Amino acid sequence: MEPFRFHVFVCDQQKPEGAPCCAARGSGQVLEALRREVNARGLEDEVQVTACGSLGLCEHGPNLVVYPEGVWYSGVTPADVPEIVRSHFEEDTPVERLARTDPAAVRAEILHNREKMFAARRAREAAGVLPDDLNERIRAFQESRVVLTALELDLFTAVGDGAGAAEVAASVHTDPRSTEMLLNALASLRLIVKHEGVFHNSPAAARYFTAGSRDNARPALLHTAHLWQRWSTLTDSVRAGTAVAHDEIAGRGPDWTEAFIAAMHRNASERAPLVVRAVGTENVRRMLDVGGGSGAYSIAFAQANPALRADILDLATVEPIARRHIQDAGVADRVDVRAGDLRSGRLGEGYDLVFVSAICHMLDPAENLDLLRRCHEALAPGGRVVIQDFILEADKTAPRFAALFALNMLVGTRGGASYSEPEYAGWLGEAGFREIRHARLPGITGLMIGSRT
Ligand SMILES: C[S@@+](CC[C@H](N)C(=O)[O-])C[C@H]1O[C@@H](n2cnc3c(N)ncnc32)[C@H](O)[C@@H]1O
Ligand code: FES
Repeated sequence: MEPFRFHVFVCDQQKPEGAPCCAARGSGQVLEALRREVNARGLEDEVQVTACGSLGLCEHGPNLVVYPEGVWYSGVTPADVPEIVRSHFEEDTPVERLARTDPAAVRAEILHNREKMFAARRAREAAGVLPDDLNERIRAFQESRVVLTALELDLFTAVGDGAGAAEVAASVHTDPRSTEMLLNALASLRLIVKHEGVFHNSPAAARYFTAGSRDNARPALLHTAHLWQRWSTLTDSVRAGTAVAHDEIAGRGPDWTEAFIAAMHRNASERAPLVVRAVGTENVRRMLDVGGGSGAYSIAFAQANPALRADILDLATVEPIARRHIQDAGVADRVDVRAGDLRSGRLGEGYDLVFVSAICHMLDPAENLDLLRRCHEALAPGGRVVIQDFILEADKTAPRFAALFALNMLVGTRGGASYSEPEYAGWLGEAGFREIRHARLPGITGLMIGSRT
C-alpha cells in the first residue's frame, strides 16, 4: 500500500565524466525545483520526493517516475516542474508532452542500456582498468581543495545575491579568468548555480559559507584549510615517524588559534548536551576542564547545575577567547580560566570531576599516563576523570574517523595519535583509577571514565 498519494523517484545518478547521466543534465536543479514547488503548494504530506540511482534511460535525462501509476517522465527541466505538480499531482492528469507513453519501448530501452552497462563493466574488468570508485577516492582531494580555496577567499560571501566572475574577482582581489574557472568548478559541485553568466550561491552555500548568515561555518572551516598544509606532509611524516613541520599550538599565530578554537567550539557546542547528560552533574561542585578550549563544555556543565563551578586550564593565547564565550553565556561568576601548561605541574586538588576532552590524542602514551596521574591527584576521593576522544577499537582499524584522525595527529604533533579502548583503560588503571568504563556516545567521540576511590 502506498503511504503517500504520489511517490516521485527522481534519478540523480552521477556517472563518470563523458557518460550520459541525469546529474550531468541538471537533475539536481529539477529535484530542488520539485521539492520547492511541492512545498509551495502545500503538497509535502501528499507527495513524497525521493532522489534515486539510475532509472536506465540515461540518454534522455533527467528522468523521473511517479507511483502508484508508474508514469515515466524524461527530459524534465526545472521549467517543467510547476506544470507537473499542478497537472499531475493536483489535477491527476499526467503531463503528456513529457510522459513516456509506450511502456514496451521504455522497457526495451532500459534492458538495452543495462546490457550495454554490463558489457562495458566486463570489458573494463578484463582490461584491468582501475575501478571508478577507486579512481574517485584518489582524486577526491580536488573537490575538497576547490571548496577550501573558495572558503579561504571568502568567495561565497562575494557571490552574495548573485554576481559575475569579474565582479567576484574584483571583490576578493583575484584574477578574473581563474576566478571564473573556480566558480565554474563550484557550480559543477552544485555549491554555486550559474544562470545566464551570473553566479548564485546554492541554499547550502548561502547558509553555511557566507558572512552574516547565522549558521556561517567558515571561521571554523578555515581550520580544515589550515590542516591541508599539514596533511600535504603526510608522506614525509610517515617516513620520519613524527610531524615534520611540528610547532607547538602556542606558537602558531592568532589566525590559526582563532580558526582552531572556532572549529573546536562548533563541535563542542553541538556535543556538550550529550556529554553532560552522559556524565551527569549531581555531586559535582567543582570541575576542572583540562585544555578546555572555548569553554563550551564547562559552560554547558555550569548551565546544567547552578551549584557547579568550573576551572578551565588552557594556553595564554586561548584564555581571552574562552573568556569571551563565558561572558556571552552569562556564567562568568562560576566559570574561570587559568593560563597554564597541561603537560607539566600540578593541576590543583579537591575536584569532583576532571574533564579531559580532545587532549589525549595530542600526547604520546607516556605523556598521557603522566597527565592521568596528575588528574588523579587533582580529584577528591570519589571524584571522576572523564576523557572524551576518538576511541579506536582494539585492533585500531575502526571507527574510520578515529583511524584517519590518528594521521591528523601524526602530521600535526610530536607524538600524538588516536588511542584504543585498551590503551586508555591501561593508563587509567596505572594512574590509580578504578571502575573504569567506556561510555559510547552517538557520533564520533566516546568517553573513558574512571573513579578515584
Ligand atoms: C583539541 S582542543 C580541545 C578543546 C576542548 N577540550 C574541546 O573538547 O573542545 C585542545 C585544547 O588544548 C589546548 N592546549 C594544547 N596544548 C596545551 C598545553 N600545553 N597546555 C594547556 N592547554 C593546551 C589547546 O589550546 C586547545 O584548547
Ligand atoms: S542516470 Fe538517470 S536514468 Fe540513468
